[in-house]
Amino acid sequence: MHVYALCSLLLTFLCSLAASLETDRTLDIHAWPLSAPKSTSYAQLTYNSTHANIKTHSNPAIPPNDDIVRLGFHNSAGTWSGIATAALNFRAEKDKKLQLHVNGEGMAYHIGFKVSELGTSSTTSNKKDDLSVEVVRAQPGPIPHLNRPVVVNADGSAAEEEKVEKTFLQKYWWAIAGFVLLQVVLSGGKGE
Ligand SMILES: *[C@@H]1O[C@H](CO)[C@@H](O)[C@H](O)[C@H]1NC(C)=O
Repeated sequence: MHVYALCSLLLTFLCSLAASLETDRTLDIHAWPLSAPKSTSYAQLTYNSTHANIKTHSNPAIPPNDDIVRLGFHNSAGTWSGIATAALNFRAEKDKKLQLHVNGEGMAYHIGFKVSELGTSSTTSNKKDDLSVEVVRAQPGPIPHLNRPVVVNADGSAAEEEKVEKTFLQKYWWAIAGFVLLQVVLSGGKGE
């Protein structure tokens, strides 16, 4: 019984710890020339909500009469998410930059592709050959507070917002958890 309680406490603790740490995700970007029957891997990325790195990268084989190449990835639901760009942009003399758009949870939901002449781009970080990558975070737009009365002071100035107080439990759960853990360990020791 004590062992069980101890285990469940430990598990709870580890779960909350795991939730606060962020692990790197991986993403395969595919290149898909318009006339090609299927896509080929273009770049393998690892990313978190702020940084991305290129693990492998290979330029696509583009059929000579093809002008357009689709670039994208399959999201977790399996649907294609991507853009189309000129085949000329994959030439060796171009500086290419993948932009990884991530949402509030840090998941990639779209990509962008920027191309400039080699040597004109200032970024040197997160770069492999002529390809670089950057993470673009979604900026939440301003949210209007609807149906909320405007509170003003007697002189007509805006009243100060109330601060939301954390409950006692929210503030001190770790101390309580530690205390309970100690009790369990101590009483377990006595019983032996
Ligand atoms: C993302 O990864 C970079 C290194 O690749 C690291 O410096 C950064 O702290 C990480 N960000 C988060 C939020 O974990």
